Amino acid sequence: MKIYAAKDYNDLSRKAANIISAQIILKPDAILGLATGSTPVGAYKQLIAWYEEGDLDFSGIRSVNLDEYKGLSGEHDQSYRYFMNHNLFDHVNIDKENTNVPNGLAEDAEAECSRYNQVIRNLGGIDLQLLGIGGNGHIGFNEPCDVFEKGTHVVTLTEETRQSNARFFSSIDEVPTHALTMGIQNIMSAKKVLLLASGEAKSKALYDSCFGPVTPDVPASVLQLHNDVVVIADEAALAMIRENTHWEGSVYDN
Ligand code: F6R
Repeated sequence: MKIYAAKDYNDLSRKAANIISAQIILKPDAILGLATGSTPVGAYKQLIAWYEEGDLDFSGIRSVNLDEYKGLSGEHDQSYRYFMNHNLFDHVNIDKENTNVPNGLAEDAEAECSRYNQVIRNLGGIDLQLLGIGGNGHIGFNEPCDVFEKGTHVVTLTEETRQSNARFFSSIDEVPTHALTMGIQNIMSAKKVLLLASGEAKSKALYDSCFGPVTPDVPASVLQLHNDVVVIADEAALAMIRENTHWEGSVYDN
């Protein structure tokens, strides 16, 4: 795993967008694994700007998103489908038919998870998986747990995650209690993983994920076992790594 230091959120976003755009240029029909949340918004904005300047073409790109709230329709303004349309897909020339997000309204959620695993398989796997990280070390909605769940599955969101995501809803009661998420094997099968972390609230989870034991109790720690992981973190998120490793440079080969 390689850890790259970004000065601030803006620098992190530009570095991330550079890596995603390199993937799009090198493989115009790439399969992108995409994430929602606050962290990737700046990178998506940068990709849109480069698309508008004529530097990027999304026409052949296919995408699979990590997760979706159970019980929210794609039209709900807090659904992850809505987020993706609003923050990226509506602004570039990607064919929406080629974008995949789990269906939060599926009557049979288990069947929807199997269908989603099949979608990923049919696409031939993910070329580049973009990830944020939860303050508890979650990736996708793989919450701290006793085992690594392999495939797409239904999860009960932890209270910490619901509290943290309540900022997007009018009250905590409106935050769904369950979600559908890609599992650890789906994520680990991606050829390349790009993990972004911004802000002090991620500092401990990032340190534990990169330097602690590999354990389902810190789901992102499994990334230590992947052979092509790039972490981009701003100085606030790097605080604990800096403190414990005495690393002062801009690239850390872990
Ligand atoms: C989003 C996702 C989550 C977020 C994580 C960080 O699709 O799967 O794992 O990446 O909760 O969220 P932010 O970026 O809002 O801090």
